[in-house]
Amino acid sequence: MSRLILLFLSIPFVLSAAPKCPEDFVRVERTPTVKNNHTSDWCFAVLALDRAGSRDWARGLCANYNYTLSIPESLEEFRLISAYSKGVTAAAERDFNKTITNLLIAVDGEFTPKCKAKMVRNWRYKPKKDKGECGLHQNLFSFDSSNTDPTFALDRNLEGYPNGRSESGFPGGISIARYASCLAMDPDRYDSAEFKYEDITNHTLHDGFFHLTWCDGSEGEEQNMFGVLCGGPPQ
Ligand SMILES: *[C@@H]1O[C@H](CO)[C@@H](O)[C@H](O)[C@H]1NC(C)=O
Ligand SMILES: *[C@@H]1O[C@H](CO)[C@@H](O)[C@H](O)[C@H]1NC(C)=O
Ligand SMILES: *[C@@H]1O[C@H](CO)[C@@H](O)[C@H](O)[C@H]1NC(C)=O
Ligand SMILES: *[C@@H]1O[C@H](CO)[C@@H](O)[C@H](O)[C@H]1NC(C)=O
Repeated sequence: MSRLILLFLSIPFVLSAAPKCPEDFVRVERTPTVKNNHTSDWCFAVLALDRAGSRDWARGLCANYNYTLSIPESLEEFRLISAYSKGVTAAAERDFNKTITNLLIAVDGEFTPKCKAKMVRNWRYKPKKDKGECGLHQNLFSFDSSNTDPTFALDRNLEGYPNGRSESGFPGGISIARYASCLAMDPDRYDSAEFKYEDITNHTLHDGFFHLTWCDGSEGEEQNMFGVLCGGPPQ
């Protein structure tokens, strides 16, 4: 008898166990649209990782939470992630024994191989001008998650774009060009010592606060890639 009652009592309890974000993740409300697959509720965290410059390491870290790489969908999310990243810089400096002056965060998005091939064949290629398949807002980038609308990020990814070109010359007139093709976020640096998560009204934005970075952790920018933005729905 007592067992029956217990069972009965536990049913409403189980039903009311609302999904929540894993520890250290921040919860945000999103406006559901077709472009973010009707997502209204999202969790994200910036996690410190020594090898964040490598796309495979970055995605592998997020997979531990059953999440994927993520990207801010709005200015509000961008500011929240920027604020969050301050603690990450401190943790990464301590854990990796490095001075990090300007933390870069690996975020979702990289060139599709097809469009990258187009760019490699034609160094004059301008994704912003392409109205076809490899246009900036068409299929130039591929995203691990379909629950974020990338429009906000892509519209701010314009400085020196495409960037990170590197060219190697070989005998016989052979030259090989390579391009940075993964997205990284350069957080806003806030201007007040009292700044807290709750107080995000006075942020100023830099121009061009998304970058293209190398996907394999090699070359220049990996020096400061010590954060990964992971996200997913509450679970
Ligand atoms: C969109 O969301 C629904 C429900 O959460 C999910 O089943 C579906 O796989 C998602 N679509 C894509 C393209 O990820
Ligand atoms: C991971 O997420 C998928 C899709 O949302 C879900 O089907 C699966 O059960 C989750 N796995 C774990 C271990 O939470
Ligand atoms: C941290 O880095 C500094 C400078 O590279 C080095 O001298 C020091 O031994 C390192 N500390 C640890 C605990 O590895
Ligand atoms: C915002 O920052 C500016 C410059 O640091 C400062 O002068 C201003 O008082 C701040 N505004 C608020 C509302 O805190």
